[in-house]
Amino acid sequence: MISQRVKNIAPSATLAIDAKAKQLKKEGKDIVIFGAGEPDFNTPENIKQAAKKAIDNNVTRYTPVGGMPELKKAVADKFRSFNKISYDPSEIIIGCGGKHVLYNAMMAVLDKGDEAILPAPYWVSFEEMIKLAEAKPVFCDTGRDFKLTAENVEEKITKKTKLLILNSPSNPSGAIIEPSEIKKIAKLAVDNNFYVISDEVYEHFAYGNKEFLSIASLNDEIKKLTITCNSVSKTYAMTGWRIGYCGASKEVINAMENLQGHSTSNPSNIAQMAALEALTGPQDSVRLMVKAFDERRKFVHKRLNEIDGISCIEPEGAFYAFPNIEETGMNSMDFASRLLDEALVAVVPGAAFGKEGHVRLSYAASMHELEKGLDRIDNWIKKK
Ligand SMILES: Cc1ncc(COP(=O)(O)O)c(C=O)c1O
Repeated sequence: MISQRVKNIAPSATLAIDAKAKQLKKEGKDIVIFGAGEPDFNTPENIKQAAKKAIDNNVTRYTPVGGMPELKKAVADKFRSFNKISYDPSEIIIGCGGKHVLYNAMMAVLDKGDEAILPAPYWVSFEEMIKLAEAKPVFCDTGRDFKLTAENVEEKITKKTKLLILNSPSNPSGAIIEPSEIKKIAKLAVDNNFYVISDEVYEHFAYGNKEFLSIASLNDEIKKLTITCNSVSKTYAMTGWRIGYCGASKEVINAMENLQGHSTSNPSNIAQMAALEALTGPQDSVRLMVKAFDERRKFVHKRLNEIDGISCIEPEGAFYAFPNIEETGMNSMDFASRLLDEALVAVVPGAAFGKEGHVRLSYAASMHELEKGLDRIDNWIKKK
């Protein structure tokens, strides 16, 4: 009796591993969890206070469907100062998390029979969202370093191409697309007239001298075709608050708002007040978190490459490492499930992200946990 549409969705492998690991932990097992896609830090104090104040001031009613005007303005200001994109507040929508705005964006622009180019490895939900919109995902390999080039994209363009998905820094690989390639990709989109969804939720997590660039900042032509999606989840350790935001042409924003008006309506206004404080208040917590992630990134990269049978390119951004495990002789699913059962460490199989031969480790965990988990992986492989 369940609809074919929903039956076709693959369950989220990241959530499945996470659930199994948490269940084992609940049963008293000492599990090290490298599966989580969320910062291990708490939401900063000033943001929590803003939410408490909102409740005390009875900011507890419906807001406009697409979000509070003050928050839209703060988002437009942030797009202007950080991303160098000038969106009018009427070109902004606030949704219930980055996932929600991405879903609404795909529903707003994709039709049955359209093709959406999806660079692999990709975040698990992209593929399912494209399918839910009844379009066809066209996978595009990014080679050994996972860095998307314009050439990779060009090979996949057909008359049916309606959308390209960019996610830089990437989940799961941590790769950042080179600005020179972003410029060429923008030209391809304009010349071939397709939309670009740019998922920029990891924009602050770009390490070393790596440069993050928003494609919509390049010129007006690409800005009109780009749907810039983002959220406060990762940047401000606010995954549970469920506030995402998006900038796009008025036409796209109106379509998304229409859809949102008949599904979730406005996101929680208490969480919107918290997001307003996140975007307009002090930013030192972001800097501290990024610094801590950078230290962990260097450690994880070095330690993984010391383990026999594992090699890992240096992650440039986000908070994930995506090592190659081919030399262990196991496929990614076997590797992840045996590692959890036999060495009590949870990682996510690369197959879930459209890339066999790899697993994803989130280093959003304390140094102590990282050391413990990586030692366990090392010892487990040595015993094989
Ligand atoms: C690439 C990417 N985009 C979007 C999201 C959605 O984040 P949220 O819905 O919490 O804002 C995630 C979360 O894991 C992600 O990894």
